[in-house]
Amino acid sequence: MALTHAYHLDFPELQQEINGYPLTYLDSAASSLMPESVIETINQYHRTAHANVHRGVHTLSQTATDDYELTRDRVQALIGAAQREEIIFTYGATDSINLVAQTWGKVHLSKGDAILITEMEHHANIVPWQQIAQEKGCVIHKVPITQKGEIDQDAYQRLLAQEPVKVVALIHASNALGTVNPVKEMITQAHDQGAIVMLDGAQSAPHFTVDMQDLDCDFYSFSAHKLCGPTGFGILYGKMEHLESMPPFRGGGSMIEHVAIESSTYQRPPLRFEPGTPAIAAGIGFGAAIDYMMDIGMETIASIEHELLIEAQSRLEKLPKTTIIGSPSERIAVLPLHFEGIHPYDMGMFLDRRGVAVRTGHHCAQPLIEYYQLPGTVRCSLTFYNTVEDIDRFISAIEEGLEFFS
Ligand code: ALA
Repeated sequence: MALTHAYHLDFPELQQEINGYPLTYLDSAASSLMPESVIETINQYHRTAHANVHRGVHTLSQTATDDYELTRDRVQALIGAAQREEIIFTYGATDSINLVAQTWGKVHLSKGDAILITEMEHHANIVPWQQIAQEKGCVIHKVPITQKGEIDQDAYQRLLAQEPVKVVALIHASNALGTVNPVKEMITQAHDQGAIVMLDGAQSAPHFTVDMQDLDCDFYSFSAHKLCGPTGFGILYGKMEHLESMPPFRGGGSMIEHVAIESSTYQRPPLRFEPGTPAIAAGIGFGAAIDYMMDIGMETIASIEHELLIEAQSRLEKLPKTTIIGSPSERIAVLPLHFEGIHPYDMGMFLDRRGVAVRTGHHCAQPLIEYYQLPGTVRCSLTFYNTVEDIDRFISAIEEGLEFFS
């Protein structure tokens, strides 16, 4: 059974007590933990190879550049990009989407164009589009969701057909509900109407195999810190034809071909979008994180997480006053919970006193939480280094909480 594993032993942070209890970390959707190999790789860079990249002839700079650039190859392999140059290093998934909205949007959007945003988007795939829509005079339309927590596909097709739609902002797997959307079909439908798709992969890249050739999305974004890597580093994948058409997002060193005082010319992608000294240690650390995850295998990760999901779900369904929000046909191991008569923050605080880390609130998905007319949820997010013992401790802590607040 896939649940019998020892991956939790790779994570130093899990070997501690919080408030006198063993740490039960159920917040990997917010940020996953880093295994020893990633921490050690980052330490080694700081101890022996700290130097700038893309600009030095000396040995350390060359080594740092090689190690940093190796991460681009690893990301290409992870997501099946056609070329390594289609991988842009950013500061995180949010930064990636802002880059697309402000550069692709700048040259391709005009007054009256429509942008479709689903009701389950994370704020990161809403606000950047609102900002460029305001600048350009575009209209935004909401693609509604259903009670099951799925995108209303009839409404999506109606909206696509009615409007001169240029962009679809689409989340691959919902951070707030766990829903895995049928993105391949939705991307094909968007393309048939001449729209591009900004696919938010923050919760899909860490949990199952994604393949850019198969999905055929135009842009895909995710963050290193949700794939066992450090914070402050993220990825934007873009089809080369789009990237070539986009002006720089930020200006500075490294992204130029030639600079005169009056004007400059720019590098081709990816360097066009990577000015200044980047987050080198984080980039090199992310390379080690991808190695670690690919050694386990994304299929193994998906299968462990699915078993954990089924186990947690069946245990939660038996609890009184407890509702799992949404029942999508496909879901990553994210379970949003509502406890009758108990505010999510109160339950979250109570669980923390028992060493259980969950996220509470609107999960940066306010339109979705408003759809369910809730003050927020308590979100349990499981990943491959969680165990059945974590679920046992979580259920016991909830039972105590239900008793305490009754
Ligand atoms: N987007 C992250 C989450 O869902 C931070 O918690």
